[in-house]
Amino acid sequence: MTTIAKMPKTARERGKIAPAKLAHVALRTSQPEKVVKFYKTVLEAEVFYENSNLTFLTYDDEHHRLAIFRVPGLGRASRGKAGVDHVAFTYRNLKELVSTYVRLKDAGIEPVWTTHHGGTLSFYYADPDNNLAELQVDVHKDVKSLEQYLVSEDFSINPVGVDFDPEEIRARLERGDKQADILERHADGPRDMTTIPREIVGSFHWMIIRIAAKLGRKLN
Ligand SMILES: [Fe+2]
Repeated sequence: MTTIAKMPKTARERGKIAPAKLAHVALRTSQPEKVVKFYKTVLEAEVFYENSNLTFLTYDDEHHRLAIFRVPGLGRASRGKAGVDHVAFTYRNLKELVSTYVRLKDAGIEPVWTTHHGGTLSFYYADPDNNLAELQVDVHKDVKSLEQYLVSEDFSINPVGVDFDPEEIRARLERGDKQADILERHADGPRDMTTIPREIVGSFHWMIIRIAAKLGRKLN
């Protein structure tokens, strides 16, 4: 199969009636207090509406970006079932993303995975129910640049992610390195899937990946 990356025209440009925007994510939970507190902190969100079973949170001009509602008796989110894998939030630039990382670290919230996907540099956080929020910056200044990158060798070698130490990026920013330089990625080989955190792939697949890797090593 030939690899191509071509940004399609918008639905409106194609003369179609499509949604004006992606409005919100709604989460069901049995521990709404903890989940609301988590997203208020992570996203710098405020409550727009609240009753004993439902909260609307927003951080911009949308009346609610998140709806969180109470359902008793639920377990935590499982990665062993089909569904939403994560919800991603884009920051204006690397400086704002890293300052968010520092603020959250000071509040006791640490990322479960920090990786440079190639198109985005991303911090993944697990909420109290094990849903994943990805906080990211776009690496490429425009879509043309991203189109070219997606068909490059760097991305084909490792389309998953090159992990980074957030403290190293923080230190580089503090000493004045250019954001564009920090955002450059160099894949040093195919991604070893056993190094993807359990919080990201889920316990079941985490185990399967390990078993497969062990069997592979024995067969080689
Ligand atoms: Fe993502």
